[in-house]
Amino acid sequence: MLKAKLGRIQLKTPLVLASGILGTNAQIMKRCIDNGAGAVTLKSIGPIERNGHNNPTVLAFDSGLINAVGLPTPGYLNMDEEWEEINRIIKEPIIASVYGSSVEEYCRIIKYISKFNPSIIELNVSCPNKKAGMAFGKNAELVSELIREVKKCTKLPIMPKLTPNCDNISEIAKACEKAGADMIAAINTAGPGMIIDIETRKPLLKYKTGGISGPAIKPIAIRCVYEIYESVKIPILGIGGISNGRDAIEMLMAGASAVGIGSAVYYDNIEVFNKINREIEEWLKNNKIKSIKDIIGAAR
Ligand code: DHB
Repeated sequence: MLKAKLGRIQLKTPLVLASGILGTNAQIMKRCIDNGAGAVTLKSIGPIERNGHNNPTVLAFDSGLINAVGLPTPGYLNMDEEWEEINRIIKEPIIASVYGSSVEEYCRIIKYISKFNPSIIELNVSCPNKKAGMAFGKNAELVSELIREVKKCTKLPIMPKLTPNCDNISEIAKACEKAGADMIAAINTAGPGMIIDIETRKPLLKYKTGGISGPAIKPIAIRCVYEIYESVKIPILGIGGISNGRDAIEMLMAGASAVGIGSAVYYDNIEVFNKINREIEEWLKNNKIKSIKDIIGAAR
């Protein structure tokens, strides 16, 4: 009943661990799979080792999280052993997220990691916490050129992850499809936002600003996925503020083929995948719907 498909990739459940959340080592991603995730995404892999920003990097507020982690990465050349462990213990689809600051950098990383054969390559073109991080994702021409070049470097499916912080996400999605993207992930964090501590009169995050995630951004994510679904034929991985079964159904109805789970892991721990799966199943049963695919895009 919970089986799903993202393009040609078969998923045992529609839930995907979103990038940046626990996707840092094989053991912990395996725990997500064992607890009901249908696929897992690694923390974005970059060109060279980076520690990221100084603490505090993640804070909770009333209705979500704000973060400026700063794209910490071991660097793509320093992950061979982790990849071997990932491929040894994880049998469900792996999504490798990649970031770079030039087309050449993305291509170099993707060529190298393709030998480890992840199921999908996610292009992070939408990080709010590094200068120029978002340049590609906000500009249809830049993202098209990136996708066309990246497609020459690998046979693996390419999935750009789009930012909600653009004028027209449909236009960006259409440009991605035309350039050869196999699927689209939407959305990355919104904002950037800021939280000020009124006692010290200073921004709380060390980096001052950060990307917003969690329940606060769910309606933005739903609107973006709905608009993308209306504009392209390629499948969508819907991400943003999903924390229970009803949220996940809403995201599927907006047009997502599978649903990313990120901040909800912070609130409900790794068991959140099983919890959301149970709630989806119960809703489907109560509404006499046999399969996830019968509700994809139902809101259109
Ligand atoms: C970071 C990267 C992202 O893509 C994002 O949406 C938020 C934070 C980071 O590592 O800082």
